[in-house]
Amino acid sequence: MDLAAPSTPATLPRPAPGPLPAYRARVASGALVPDQAQALAAETLQDLWRRLRGYDPHPEAPEGGGFFSRFFRRKSAEGAPEGTPHGLYLVGGVGRGKSMLMDLFFACADLPRKRRIHFHQFMQECHQRIHAWKRAHPGEPDPIPPLADAVAAEAALLCFDEFQVHDIADAMILGRLFEALFHRGVVVVATSNTLPQDLFKGRPGRDAFLPFIALIRERLDVLVLDAARDYRRERILGLPTWHTPLGGRAERALDAAFRELTGEARGKPCRLAVLGRSLELPEVARGVARADFEALCGRHLGPADYLALATHIHTLVLDGVPRLGAENADRARRFITLVDALYEHRCKLVASAEAPPDRLHEQGENAAMFERTASRLVEMQSQEYLSLSHLT
Ligand SMILES: Nc1ncnc2c1ncn2[C@@H]1O[C@H](COP(=O)(O)OP(=O)(O)O)[C@@H](O)[C@H]1O
Ligand SMILES: [Mg+2]
Repeated sequence: MDLAAPSTPATLPRPAPGPLPAYRARVASGALVPDQAQALAAETLQDLWRRLRGYDPHPEAPEGGGFFSRFFRRKSAEGAPEGTPHGLYLVGGVGRGKSMLMDLFFACADLPRKRRIHFHQFMQECHQRIHAWKRAHPGEPDPIPPLADAVAAEAALLCFDEFQVHDIADAMILGRLFEALFHRGVVVVATSNTLPQDLFKGRPGRDAFLPFIALIRERLDVLVLDAARDYRRERILGLPTWHTPLGGRAERALDAAFRELTGEARGKPCRLAVLGRSLELPEVARGVARADFEALCGRHLGPADYLALATHIHTLVLDGVPRLGAENADRARRFITLVDALYEHRCKLVASAEAPPDRLHEQGENAAMFERTASRLVEMQSQEYLSLSHLT
């Protein structure tokens, strides 16, 4: 008898593919608490997943790509090629699992070209591309069609996390850009805290923005995720947030916190635009950044950098805050500015440090000023503070 022969029974069922089975498997394993609203959203995503299998709207022949492509790719009344599936706009309060569900969907989306990106980052990229295109094509008036060609060539499915419009420069290009993307058969899935009809509300220039809202409501099904709990808050409420002294134990506690908050062991690099420059964060996942004290306070960063950080992420996991004093006064000043920015935006902070907040800065020129910082750091560990929503 061949003892090495595989003994797997031929009848063992393979797990069914798609976001709904993936969601159910996570609930069954205990990684997720069962939630009816999430399960319903997972069903909707499963439908879309099925409709998108193998979807490929032939980006190599965009409109203008020749007589035949134009002839055969008839547009529906809405301006998208016939048969293009509607996308999905997943909206709800923070911590309801919108990003988690979209990520499950994205991971199994079975089509040749797909992309998941934070919406803010996508818009920055668009502005950079427009800028580069205008420089390369002086005198040509309209950068939107080539931009849409480039974006559509990269992805037939675009998943945007945290869809939000704050910026008039974004508002001005969004309508035409999205129209052009839909025209090219791109399907959009987005998570947002804001209903489409409330986007850019109360801002000057809103009237010009209304056609974009109409377009979103036409091309995307809106699904309100009314999950029972704010799972993010529950996760952070269970975590100690200030780890002292420095050493292997504190480092492991921060590893565990990052994993608990993001579901990932490590994050990915992320670049934020700050006043025409960019701030590189080494590790970001699910709105949580992990960084060393030295990386954030050991080099020339200022209030604008910390502000960009505090609006972009909801939690900072910060390694290695040293004792502060005369010998590292610059670092101390930057740390004060960093904590102010985090505090003002209700960002959560999980840190490892050489000492508790009120023992961190006992001497030197900034010591008096640091009292307020220490008091903020103590407050930021309270359950009340940890329950507050991030202000973006
Ligand atoms: N059903 C659930 N059970 C346990 N944890 C959950 C559940 N749903 C979401 N989470 C976790 O809660 C946190 C917040 O979820 P997230 O998808 O980021 O929320 P949102 O994007 O709606 O703000 C994440 O760490 C996520 O993994
Ligand atoms: Mg989210």
